[in-house]
Amino acid sequence: MDIWIDSVNTPNIQKAVRLGFLSGVTTNPTLISESNENFEDILKGLLHHQEGPVAVQVVSSNTADMVQEGQNLFSYSTRIIVKVPITKNGLEAIHLLGRQGIPTMATVVFTPHQALMAALADADYIAPYIGRIENSGADPWMVLTAMAQILKNYKFKTQILGASIKTVEHAAKCAEIGISGITVRDEIFEKLIEDNPLTAQCVNKFAEDWKNVNTPLFA
Ligand code: G3P
Repeated sequence: MDIWIDSVNTPNIQKAVRLGFLSGVTTNPTLISESNENFEDILKGLLHHQEGPVAVQVVSSNTADMVQEGQNLFSYSTRIIVKVPITKNGLEAIHLLGRQGIPTMATVVFTPHQALMAALADADYIAPYIGRIENSGADPWMVLTAMAQILKNYKFKTQILGASIKTVEHAAKCAEIGISGITVRDEIFEKLIEDNPLTAQCVNKFAEDWKNVNTPLFA
């Protein structure tokens, strides 16, 4: 399963690159609005600090403007994936961008039928909002399993990138179901790599015991 980072934070992206498991970066208008940098500098940084794709969301709500924004973003770099909210107009924009060979990610996806429509519109990725699905009272794992089955039934190229991951258990459950990837916020990324207390306890004991050996591992 691929892990993307949902972040515009350069040190965190660099850390993920060093750890060797970063497949790409996702952003959204909120993340960008919370940063003090200007949009173009953020984009340059995200493309510079890692080699994977960068998903950037359109901000208009009508189809023509979404398509124009998508074209502009893609002309900036062919590593840009155009994130389009799965509204009625968004579906049309996904289809039109796809016909131009511009990769898209249908985002803010909540239901299996939205996933089906995004796949039929030719989206390369769909980003179901797992935590928010759970908060709405639906079972995110039933929703995700149904989405995965729909994509498999018809051999759609569309990949599921689980978003709105709120816990490490969410991340592991996505891997158990077998979706293509997840995108995680900085705080979840940190939790995924932090030492488990039981691991730390064992490692400390090994370090203590090795003192009795009183010799380096390789002399
Ligand atoms: O990129 C958007 C997605 O990650 C939303 O997550 O945490 O706002 O539900 P959240």
